[in-house]
Amino acid sequence: MEKINAVITGVGGYVPDYVLTNDELSRMVDTTDEWIMTRIGVKERRILNEEGLGTSYMARKAAKQLVQKTGVNPDEIDAVVVCTTTPDYHFPSTASILCDKLGLKNAFAFDLQAACCGFLYGLEVAASLVVSGRHKKVILVGADKMSSMVDYSDRATCPIFGDGAAAVLLEPTTEDYGIMDSILRTDGKGLPFLHMKAGGSVCTPSYFTVDHKMHYIYQEGRTVFKYAVSNMSDITAKIAEKNGLTKDNINWVIPHQANMRIIDAVASRLQVPMEKVMVNIQRYGNTSAGTLPLCLWDYEKKLKKGDNLIFTAFGAGFTFGAVYVKWGYDGNMK
Ligand code: UT7
Repeated sequence: MEKINAVITGVGGYVPDYVLTNDELSRMVDTTDEWIMTRIGVKERRILNEEGLGTSYMARKAAKQLVQKTGVNPDEIDAVVVCTTTPDYHFPSTASILCDKLGLKNAFAFDLQAACCGFLYGLEVAASLVVSGRHKKVILVGADKMSSMVDYSDRATCPIFGDGAAAVLLEPTTEDYGIMDSILRTDGKGLPFLHMKAGGSVCTPSYFTVDHKMHYIYQEGRTVFKYAVSNMSDITAKIAEKNGLTKDNINWVIPHQANMRIIDAVASRLQVPMEKVMVNIQRYGNTSAGTLPLCLWDYEKKLKKGDNLIFTAFGAGFTFGAVYVKWGYDGNMK
């Protein structure tokens, strides 16, 4: 039997209209555009600020564009995986809400929670569904409304994050393209450094937890930064070496957009020039599970069939890894 690969056959994306600039932030907390640009590299981020709209709204917009661009028949979608840490509700899953909004009748759907590494883990999971031979068309979404858990009086975290979503379609191919390899890891020792203190089953919501701001992102930035630099750099170097990829035949590196200094470190470890690194952190900030597919969305036109792409991410958990993708279509043909 011929080997089946799972290949990405389209990209859709969505970012909310509202632009939160560094100037506006510097009127909210004690910070400056200069500090944010030199320490993080974010100029502005998008915020979903209309009441009553959550992550599924952005996921729906991205997935609808994907369906439109690819021309896929919604009745043929077999599965939907939504990677998010900011679901609309604890339950049901955001994926099930999305299924309804897209009018999917023959799909099963679930959420995948791996913080900022969600989309990377999602690529492996969605590809496995396709490679199994049992599912032919799988929608994979990375979507987060980070503004729903950012404390806009905490200058250490509020400049970093933004809201956004993007989606890809995965389909089988017998050609030598698609999700070629992955190295994924979880180091549960990361818990103390990056988490939300309340709202889960250990510490249920109460007046106390609200009064003490325990429903926001808690991050020990410097520690997370060190782990992110070393783990992302090591794991991208490892997947490159394993697959015979060097600075000469890597076409694109797609790093999680958390901090420009982390992105620079990953690129320099691979000795890949910055022209080959997808970067949109200036415009969107860290959209968590949204960063990697939003990079694809922004750069799709530049991609060519056969391009070698390395995705890498790092997030709470700690979760991290790298995925090697051989791109399956000429982006400017879509
Ligand atoms: O996506 C999930 C994974 N997350 C990450 O990858 C984030 C990793 N961490 C980071 O990106 C960085 O650690 C931060 C951007 C969060 C912080 O940058 P840093 O260079 O590590 O700053 P720091 O926390 O060491 O703080 C340095 C100084 C402190 O002042 P003192 O104590 O030296 O006087 C902070 O109070 O900068 C101060 N500071 C600020 N100053 C102006 C912190 N935030 C701000 C701010 N504006 N917004």
